[in-house]
Amino acid sequence: MSELEGPSLRLDVPRQEALRHAVEIIAQAWRSFDRFRPEEPPLDERVLALLRSGLPEQGVPVHEALNDAARVLDESIAQPRPRYFAFIGSSGLEIGAIADALAATYDINLAVDARAATVIEQQAVRWVAAFVGYPAGGGAFTSGGTISNMTALSAARERALPGSRHGGMASRAAAVYCSREVHYSITRAVELLGIGSANLRALPIDERRRLRPDALAEAIDRDLAAGITPVAVVATAGTTLTGAIDPIEEIAEVCEARGVWLHVDGAYGLPAAGLPSMRPAFAGLERADSVSVDAHKWLYLPKACGVVLVRRQEDLLAAFAHREGYLPHQRHELHAVDITLEYSRPFRALKAWLAFRVHGAPAFRRAIERNLAEARLLYEEVGRYEDLEALAPPQLSIVPFRHVPPGVADVNRHNAALAEALQADGRVYLASALIDGEVYLRPCFVNFRTTEEDVLALVEIVRELGARLAG
Ligand SMILES: Cc1ncc(COP(=O)(O)O)c(C=O)c1O
Repeated sequence: MSELEGPSLRLDVPRQEALRHAVEIIAQAWRSFDRFRPEEPPLDERVLALLRSGLPEQGVPVHEALNDAARVLDESIAQPRPRYFAFIGSSGLEIGAIADALAATYDINLAVDARAATVIEQQAVRWVAAFVGYPAGGGAFTSGGTISNMTALSAARERALPGSRHGGMASRAAAVYCSREVHYSITRAVELLGIGSANLRALPIDERRRLRPDALAEAIDRDLAAGITPVAVVATAGTTLTGAIDPIEEIAEVCEARGVWLHVDGAYGLPAAGLPSMRPAFAGLERADSVSVDAHKWLYLPKACGVVLVRRQEDLLAAFAHREGYLPHQRHELHAVDITLEYSRPFRALKAWLAFRVHGAPAFRRAIERNLAEARLLYEEVGRYEDLEALAPPQLSIVPFRHVPPGVADVNRHNAALAEALQADGRVYLASALIDGEVYLRPCFVNFRTTEEDVLALVEIVRELGARLAG
């Protein structure tokens, strides 16, 4: 065979063999996620040596390289483990991992028309919208909340200041409004959009840590009087810090009365709106102009799988549509890239589509319901012990609490040290958070593998290590 025949990159063994080996590694990982593991293994010598190596000039057998990859993965912090409670984790739902392998194999680009995949993306967007109960007129899959929020605020800016995408902000003063507990991705978006984070009005919250509509109305009116253009209000439906849900209905009233765009950042919490029991907490959602929801958070799918939804697709087109010679618009049709921030986009929709098909929406509702019950259980458990103190009853599935043993003078320092000790111990994975200047442990339940036993173990281990630290 001449050098120019056949693929130029080939494995050292038949590819089916490499695939079988990879499948065994995946199956082994799934088995290890089924239950907690008693500790996180440290980096071994071989992995440490690998981490020091330079660019390989020589290939190694694929089995060896896959085994090394498996070691690296096993010695990394994997969020799908049932006792991973830090940040807002994800659980690598099996059908999602399979979908990712399939999508990567076909490597379809969702920037321009990809035929069936394009149609499935639109269908999956509608399914996610239907699940959370939002009357979307359009939307797209994104790499996550950060890009969804940026996309939505780009559309809001173009609506509030038509032509700003071309002319820039010039000297036009504009502002965006949110609670002081908004996710940092909103700050980043206003910085990138030229609005400036100095013009992000991070407003006061009520006793349940929700944006105060009266403060919002006042802030907008003050800006209007000063000639500052309100671009958007961001209501958070599930804050990252405590899971507070801003009062969307009342916020929508304020926005509609003043013609201001309402964006709901539901990256974390919005899937809970799909539960009839939780729906009242999200009342008014249908009035939002745009919405972010991350399927890689509380719909259990592997990263990256965000969704941005808008009530009117034209708003995205106004902000993003363009005609470039390297993207020929035959027949004058519009492409996905005309409504998205990203160009090349993987087929992320496939995992949401397959997951809904395989499990059905009710199974997701039950899984979310269980996470909510785990949060309530933790809150009750914390209440049973004198040496534990919860911040407040959970609004969603985040339960900040802290260890307050008698005789510890600096509770903040104690809990910061406890969070570190918990991570070093490895039986549960937990992070701390600063709430009103106080250090809390901040578990979040968004994993379909977590059980009641895991929740009880969390309390037990926190008390055990906390008591040891308190000496
Ligand atoms: C409320 C909220 N918005 C946005 C984001 C950012 O999402 P991503 O990390 O997927 O970009 C997060 C992440 O935790 C979040 O909790």
